[in-house]
Amino acid sequence: MDTWESLRSACLACKACPLAEHRNHVVFGDGAEDAEILLIGEGPGQNEDEQGLPFVGRAGKLLDDMLEMVNLDRSKVYIANMVKCRPPQNRDPLDTEQDACRHWLQRQTALLKPKIVICLGRIAAKSIIKNNFRITAEHGQWFQKDGVQMMALFHPAALLRDPRKRPETFEDLKRIQAMARELCTHTDI
Ligand code: URA
Repeated sequence: MDTWESLRSACLACKACPLAEHRNHVVFGDGAEDAEILLIGEGPGQNEDEQGLPFVGRAGKLLDDMLEMVNLDRSKVYIANMVKCRPPQNRDPLDTEQDACRHWLQRQTALLKPKIVICLGRIAAKSIIKNNFRITAEHGQWFQKDGVQMMALFHPAALLRDPRKRPETFEDLKRIQAMARELCTHTDI
């Protein structure tokens, strides 16, 4: 069985796909290692690659604001990405890259045992919730998988590009807050 420490150091040394060649940092994940809520993004962008932390650029600032609206912050959740190294020009991670990286997130999830999983955007939702996930139609809906409640939100970068999506996202966040109040024991939400 992994420990957080052994998993992190193994992940930081990973060279399983070509994304390793050009990275500055592996972005392993961040947050509380006993969090009951796991947020999953797509992959690091430039700021994340430079700092080694997820969601620290403009989209990350918006994510922090979104969490704050429902009395959450990074100390109460865990944030990770589908792929741990930055895809060039921020393109979508290829299936082969996601396949090579998937076991890291699976092992993080096994350590965390979250009660709620929130997918940030289409790429994470397709991989984690279901392959034919349609983000515009199905964001904000709960899906139950292996006893875990899962929902997808619009990706914060999509909310930056199209602020008209923000009111719907606020409704989705309130649904997450209600579910967390029901299920989570150590998140004062
Ligand atoms: N977008 C993501 O999906 N993940 C990050 O860590 C940053 C931006």
